Amino acid sequence: MIILGIESSCDDTSAAVIDDCVLLSSVIASQKVHEAYGGVVPELASRAHQQNIVPVVSEAIRQAGIDRKDIGAVAFTRGPGLPGSLHVGCAFAKGLALALNVPLVDVNHLHGHVLAHFVKRKPDDEVPEFPYLCLLVSGGNSQIIRVDSPAQMTVLGQTIDDAAGEAFDKCAKVMGLPYPGGPVIDRLAAEGDPSRFKFAKPHIDGYNYSFSGLKTSFLYTLRDALKDNPNFIEENKADLAASLQHTIVDILMHQFTRAIKDTGIKTIAIGGGVSANSGVRDAVADYARRHRLRAFIPERSFTTDNAAMIAVAGWFKAQRGEFCDPTEPPFARVVI
Ligand code: KG4
Repeated sequence: MIILGIESSCDDTSAAVIDDCVLLSSVIASQKVHEAYGGVVPELASRAHQQNIVPVVSEAIRQAGIDRKDIGAVAFTRGPGLPGSLHVGCAFAKGLALALNVPLVDVNHLHGHVLAHFVKRKPDDEVPEFPYLCLLVSGGNSQIIRVDSPAQMTVLGQTIDDAAGEAFDKCAKVMGLPYPGGPVIDRLAAEGDPSRFKFAKPHIDGYNYSFSGLKTSFLYTLRDALKDNPNFIEENKADLAASLQHTIVDILMHQFTRAIKDTGIKTIAIGGGVSANSGVRDAVADYARRHRLRAFIPERSFTTDNAAMIAVAGWFKAQRGEFCDPTEPPFARVVI
């Protein structure tokens, strides 16, 4: 079955075509307009989606080498995300499905990240076996999810305040780095000493996360050091980034490895924007090697928001015969 996926939950307009989970095309239009504001401006995001959606979908169909009438279903991100952004993708998907007279599949964006490992480049690419444990780390979420099947996911732990991506972005902002700060910290960290600075880590029972203490401790370290040396950030950029990244990775791995041990699950995975981070990827791969686990680490292009993962999550729902009524609205918040 050929599925067209559409993703517009935040600031990336994306369309992808899959044929039974094998990727035929993936097109993403990122929105540079937000950089000047240090964060995503919802109204600008929805306007940019409106401009991008037609060319992005047309290009995905063109690159896939298919005709519109080959599309068997249209899958779209129904939530969570920014309401205005979601409305654009949702309305477009509904209109297209009606025009093509094919079923519509609504996808939970977080399920897309968790199931991104099933996007194949070739039909015989390896995919995770169930159950697997997924560390979902993005700008809005940090969760440990037990995945028993594409339809059966249980959140074992999640952040009680900021998400890992927010910790990267907010600390980067304090350093005067551009938005989004996560990838910039990642690049700087490669040159720095991760043991140079120590920042606070939470002590939480169970598998929940907290990043607000780290954020405060990072801010106070800079504030105190800047009193003595106004050039402190500039002179210590790489070490600050490396130490920050090291602390975030430590916090993530502490709860994740506890969940792995307690559940005894042998297949692990990561997903979401922060799973593009070199420190996170290395730590998960290294842990899996030492404990003889199977680790699924997504291609970097499938870590941030993309429609390929939405198409695949939609494919699983279509196989189960779960389709969406075109009168259903998008939802800004969903509980996985
Ligand atoms: O999943 P995602 O694309 O969307 C949202 O949840 O909005 O994640 C975006 C987050 C941002 O916080 C960004 O800074 C972070 O992913 N991110 C990274 C890296 N690449 C993206 N964080 C650390 N290192 C990276 N290489």
